[in-house]
Amino acid sequence: MPHYTKRGEVPHKRHTQFRKADGGLYSEQLVSTEGFSDVYSLIYHHHPPTVVSKIDEPIDVAPKVAQQKNMQHRCYNGFNVVAEDDFLKSRKPVLINNDCHIVLAAPRKSMETYFYKNSGADEMIFVHEGRGILKTIFGELTFAYGDYIIIPRGTIYQISFETEQNRLFIVESFSPIVYPKRYRNNFGQLLENSPYCERDIREPQNLKTHDEKGDFLVYIKKDGLLYPYHYMYHPFDAVGWDGCQYPYIFSIHDFEPITGRVHQPPPVHQTFEARNFVVCSFVPRKYDYHPLSIPAPYNHSNVDSDEVLYYVDGDFMSRKHVERGMITLHPIGIPHGPHPGTVEKSIGKDETHELAVMVDTFKPLWICEDALPIEDKEYHKSWME
Ligand SMILES: [Fe+2]
Repeated sequence: MPHYTKRGEVPHKRHTQFRKADGGLYSEQLVSTEGFSDVYSLIYHHHPPTVVSKIDEPIDVAPKVAQQKNMQHRCYNGFNVVAEDDFLKSRKPVLINNDCHIVLAAPRKSMETYFYKNSGADEMIFVHEGRGILKTIFGELTFAYGDYIIIPRGTIYQISFETEQNRLFIVESFSPIVYPKRYRNNFGQLLENSPYCERDIREPQNLKTHDEKGDFLVYIKKDGLLYPYHYMYHPFDAVGWDGCQYPYIFSIHDFEPITGRVHQPPPVHQTFEARNFVVCSFVPRKYDYHPLSIPAPYNHSNVDSDEVLYYVDGDFMSRKHVERGMITLHPIGIPHGPHPGTVEKSIGKDETHELAVMVDTFKPLWICEDALPIEDKEYHKSWME
């Protein structure tokens, strides 16, 4: 996060005495995702964030890989993933590699008895269905349909859902998820020609300070294990914080599409980047306006990326039989393109209402066991007339 934000009370100068009303010192903590050489924030706690009373046995939540080498177009019905009451149990990894895990989740209940922290990965939670509040030490983020919630590694959080009807498309990234470099100027500000800007970013609000002693369970995820940590003080005990690292929300509905006279390539849809993958947003837009333009995409051989498309809403002009929540995987090594008939059908149309999220990984994805029961096994033959 390149821009500076402040919530609550912070001392005039960093790393100096900052005292409570009773004369005691607040406890300062630096949080960052790339050591001391990238973005960071300073948090001021009522109590040190180190007071652990107990650690229970870790729980294995590592994804089970069913197939590492894939050379076939795949399709999964994401809404067939079984809903679960618990948020952590509901998370089903479907496609993974060493850079990211793509996870589907349909949680029914809010997290009330515990907190969660992913210490190994930034999380991008795309909200397909549902609304609620993400609670963190930085404040609260109210989320709804179409929101990308970006949670930096190491952020302890709780999620409250308004109803039991929730569908989430989650990417765990083992490197920071950032705005694409080509959208930023030398100082990190989003450029005039980027498809979104700082005004579109929603920051944490309503900082609530919980100066509470007790038994606070935080499930900390690292290397495929969940470590049940019991802390003596409430994890959201900050009186204030400032800096450039914090969770935030960007809505896909605020992505301004870039269009042209002829078909624009996928990079115009880019929304975020991380090490070895990108995230793109396909949003409602006017079609190409050259008199002979073909709005449908051309066939292409993605020699350097596995393409994952998550279909959110609207008609998808290049595909047949698309349903909400569907995921297609078009792997490195073989071309893919529009389904039969869709090229001719697209000619003369002047707009699309499609909404989709794409994750292009530069290394092949492995297929997880949780993806097998939701696969449409005939998909690779769907280009036959
Ligand atoms: Fe493609």
